[in-house]
Amino acid sequence: MNVFVPLGYYKNEIINDYGLNTAPIFMPNTVGGYFPGPRTFPGNKKILYNSSTMVKALSRGYVVVSAGLRGRTLTNEKGEFIGKAPAFIIDMKAAIRYIKFNKDNFPGDVNKIITNGTSAGGAISALIGASGNNVFFEKELDEIGAADSSDNIFAVSAYCPIHNLENADAAYEWQFNGINDWHTQKIDIKNGKAEFSPLNGQLNELEKQLSSKLKNQFIEYLNSLRLRNPDGDYLTLNKIGEGNFLDLTKKFLIKSAQTEIEKGNELNNPNFLDIRNGKVVSLKWKAYLRYITRMKKVPAFDDLGLNNPENDLFGDIKIKAKHFTEIGQKYSEKTAKKADPELVTAINPLNYLNNQSNSLIAKHWRIRHGAADRDTSFAVPIILATTLQNMNLDIDFFMPWAKPHSGDYDLIDLFDWIDSLVK
Ligand code: DHB
Repeated sequence: MNVFVPLGYYKNEIINDYGLNTAPIFMPNTVGGYFPGPRTFPGNKKILYNSSTMVKALSRGYVVVSAGLRGRTLTNEKGEFIGKAPAFIIDMKAAIRYIKFNKDNFPGDVNKIITNGTSAGGAISALIGASGNNVFFEKELDEIGAADSSDNIFAVSAYCPIHNLENADAAYEWQFNGINDWHTQKIDIKNGKAEFSPLNGQLNELEKQLSSKLKNQFIEYLNSLRLRNPDGDYLTLNKIGEGNFLDLTKKFLIKSAQTEIEKGNELNNPNFLDIRNGKVVSLKWKAYLRYITRMKKVPAFDDLGLNNPENDLFGDIKIKAKHFTEIGQKYSEKTAKKADPELVTAINPLNYLNNQSNSLIAKHWRIRHGAADRDTSFAVPIILATTLQNMNLDIDFFMPWAKPHSGDYDLIDLFDWIDSLVK
């Protein structure tokens, strides 16, 4: 891992009210797509490891630690896979344990560690925050020689975390069922530059059938969670997927549009919003979804041909990719293995929140998920945020208007949030 410290601290300077021993420790990761996330450094020009976040954090007076994390495509000299789940989280925990083990010599305040990441990296950040010191990871941490210390942290920042993978297919169909055309982009890397071209299609008959099955699964799942809205009512969905959980989802989107109007930005009177005298009164759910469009086929994550990042994530040392849901396995187009359900459960931050006794959970959470994000259902971050809220943890959740799947777009606000907790 790389450690960066504002130079002024070694000249006894105070930066943003912090000194060498009191500065928060900010830990952004570079993971996207569950690929390996190498450690990075200020000035790194590689597209995926753009390091401007680190530079901005250093100027705020934070100590910045960039830990390299294994990912799904990594192999050893024998061609064996050495970065499948849960390698990414083992490495991140090992880095945190190292920092805390060396607390007397490490720059910054080791009790003020804040993780940050986007998408798969956001899921890692959330998993770290939820699973502090959980015994599940002990054996592998021992095997890689992690320091004998703790890995619980102070606060989590997560942008569009792609998590809750065992329920993500169902959540996606609760949202997009009935919308049968999908629109995504093909990415080619040419001369170090990403080139995008449109890729569109229609769901086939089997996909439409599975969509309805998955939608029903989600309704059952959501009702089983016994989440409560801020008024204390249980959040539920009826047989057709409507109810106060859908109302809550729409509320977050309405708040997002309202905030945008109040910032003075034009929304161009979209047909899915009813705006009266500058107030967003309602949002037409289906019309809004048709506007942002479906991105993924069915199932959205556990691909029947094993071609998605998540299938690859759940491979093992010899097997490249596996299924991780019953429907994926049942309708597989390949002779395929199914991942150990205990592993699937173990990398879902939500499962630690529902089973609080076994982990030390971060007290402060900031989650952002773009209102135009189609990589996972809105239900996924909303379930996470609501669970945290129901546990009376400090959760700041917002869905920025028109933001697609992306992160680190509001660092000034993120750093203000960190300062408000630490100072
Ligand atoms: C990421 C995006 C996805 O749509 C997905 O399924 C997994 C990971 C990402 O950007 O990290």
